[in-house]
Amino acid sequence: MVKGGSGMGRSVRPQSYFLRSFGCQMNEHDTERIAGLLEEMGIGPAASPESADLLVYNTCSIREKADSRLAGHLSYAARLKRDRPSMLVVVAGCLAQSRRDEFFADFPCVDVLVGPQSLHELPGLLEQRLADGAGVGAYAEETTRWSADLPRVRVDGPCAWVQIVAGCTNFCTYCIVPHVRGPEASRPATDIMAEVEGLAAEGVREITLLGQNVNAYGKEPGFQGGETFAGLLRSACAVDGIERVRFMTSHPKDVSEELIQVLAERNQVCEHVHLPAQSGNDRILAAMNRTYDRAGYVGLVRRLRSAVPDLVLTTDLIVGFPGETEEEFQDTLSLVEECRFDSAFTFIYSPRRGTAAAALPGRLPEGAGEERMARLVDVVQRLGMEHNQAMVGQTVEVLVERASRHAAGEVMGRTRGHKPVNFPSAAAPGDLVQVRLLEATSTSFRGQEA
Ligand code: SAH
Ligand code: SF4
Ligand code: F3S
Repeated sequence: MVKGGSGMGRSVRPQSYFLRSFGCQMNEHDTERIAGLLEEMGIGPAASPESADLLVYNTCSIREKADSRLAGHLSYAARLKRDRPSMLVVVAGCLAQSRRDEFFADFPCVDVLVGPQSLHELPGLLEQRLADGAGVGAYAEETTRWSADLPRVRVDGPCAWVQIVAGCTNFCTYCIVPHVRGPEASRPATDIMAEVEGLAAEGVREITLLGQNVNAYGKEPGFQGGETFAGLLRSACAVDGIERVRFMTSHPKDVSEELIQVLAERNQVCEHVHLPAQSGNDRILAAMNRTYDRAGYVGLVRRLRSAVPDLVLTTDLIVGFPGETEEEFQDTLSLVEECRFDSAFTFIYSPRRGTAAAALPGRLPEGAGEERMARLVDVVQRLGMEHNQAMVGQTVEVLVERASRHAAGEVMGRTRGHKPVNFPSAAAPGDLVQVRLLEATSTSFRGQEA
């Protein structure tokens, strides 16, 4: 535990919390655990930040925009706190870990900081803050206790996250994650399976096994269990009540033949792989430390597609890595055409403090990143539209997730390929429904029950 802060005075014990989550699925998962810890302390949810005694931000630091977004939220929190000085502000997650005690100086309204490997310390930190009135923080360097073992308040619905690997040891040169989440650590398979069984008993129908690089499951030195990632997927399929199994994210370097086999089997493992390519150019891939080249990536996609003919393939792409030339960027465009991704998350490179790429020369001039991004998005959307148009007229299995936010009497569900479908139906969340696809956009469908 680290002490810091300017000391904002003693506070009254909070009765209610308002929690905001930023960033990736791992943060969404951790946010459910933060809510679980707070509720175990007798603190209940508030309807709005204005009515809460405790504001919690579970933060992301992946790009600069994430940092500046949080700064906006914190200045609002500071204003609320001026009117109600007993209010407490907690900053959890990756940005808390990367900035540490600097935070107290930059944002004096913050009372408690807690890094992503220290979430279990949150109740103790809050008690300490209440007892002595000074800002307090905890930042572990590696995973010693799994956030997945903490109490949980799960967002209602038939789908749930299950954490299997924490941290990342790949050190892609642009990425802050290994610096804030610590080295890869695999969770014991018995704990994972106990969680999956518990979720199935609660009515969960779909699980997503989570990690920065799920394919690295069990590969770190010193791991006690003998299970492989593919083995874990097979075990999850055997759990009664689990209709669908997904996983997120896969690093191309660790996709095994055994995993391709499991995807090809007719079982609950959905035919969707999110396989971040980042770039289509070999020099950039090497500078990113991705450890594969374009030919290796394309070869892997070919093996996946021939084993799993109806595979939905999605990816992440970065434009404007330091020194990226127009020709090198065009290699990314041509990779997208060659791999025919169903969809892609596209990002403009954002320098992150402490990462190797932040020290590289060749920053793109103002506006160049945006211009490349716009051209990339055009190609990605055109391909998405082509893929989805080709599915119109087909009848597919949809897992209903919730009532539609757009139209009364409609529901939203997803295909096995994770594409959203809206359709009129009286089906309940968790139902598997056969749906005829009537209309497509580049990212979603409208349909009717078959
Ligand atoms: N662990 C996952 C991805 C985590 S971050 C994986 O490796 O696949 C999600 C995505 O954010 C990355 O795939 C990358 O495309 C993007 N990203 C990470 N750091 C970035 C940075 N500094 N600038 C721009 N995009 C970044
Ligand atoms: Fe970041 Fe690379 Fe690890 Fe993904 S694999 S979290 S991009 S360092
Ligand atoms: Fe962001 Fe941390 Fe996830 S930096 S993307 S919340 S691992």
